[in-house]
Amino acid sequence: MTENKISINTKEIPFQDRYKLLIGSIVPRPIGFVSTVSPNGIYNLAPFSFFNGVCSEPMTVLFCPVVRGSDGQEKDTLKNIKVTKEFVVNIVSEEIAEKMNQCSAEYSYGVDEFKESGLTPVRANMVKPPLVKEAKINMECKLLHLVEIGNKPGGGTVVIGEVVYFHVQENVYKDGKIILSELKPIARLGGTDYARVTDIFSLPRPTIKIPVGENPNNK
Ligand SMILES: Cc1cc2nc3c(=O)[nH]c(=O)nc-3n(C[C@H](O)[C@H](O)[C@H](O)COP(=O)(O)O)c2cc1C
Repeated sequence: MTENKISINTKEIPFQDRYKLLIGSIVPRPIGFVSTVSPNGIYNLAPFSFFNGVCSEPMTVLFCPVVRGSDGQEKDTLKNIKVTKEFVVNIVSEEIAEKMNQCSAEYSYGVDEFKESGLTPVRANMVKPPLVKEAKINMECKLLHLVEIGNKPGGGTVVIGEVVYFHVQENVYKDGKIILSELKPIARLGGTDYARVTDIFSLPRPTIKIPVGENPNNK
């Protein structure tokens, strides 16, 4: 027992409670707003905050659609990616927060969330799913791996994709860098709360020179 801490054996609590621990602890979470297309050409758009960048050679992102709680089925985004092997990650700025939220409603398969939310689809360069015009950054992705963690409620499938084309609004990009104050991204917290990235501080990286031969990693 650790003093002053409540310690939980995660195998002894229901998955819904584990979910609350995850989304309350891993904060703030970036939001990947993912566009896909069905085999018969219907667009789909949904936000995912189990989302992150992974590495840059190849340039890789991942996100995780979980099994739908209401009916135990896989989400439309995953259904489409399994067939088409392509998706676009759009970054959510404050200006489109409400429209993004609209796209998280449980629409039937085949309902086009671009139409439902009023967001504008724009043709991508290398993949069939469209870019969200109103998003300031769009990443065209080709599927690299699907990793199924679990297929029952509480489970999910990690979707890993290579970013093959990157689009960024002109005012958000300077000298190869993304301008945060122009991007105005939002992030997800627990429950229905969101955060802006406005309280920033810097920590220069420490420079420790370990003399050759004294690096403990070499022992
Ligand atoms: C900000 C936000 C983040 C979300 N993150 C996830 C997530 O990481 N994984 C997930 O399965 N659902 C997540 N959801 C819920 C999905 O967006 C929702 O289930 C949506 O209907 C899925 O759409 P689809 O069936 O068209 O793929 C999130 C919703 C919101 C509003």
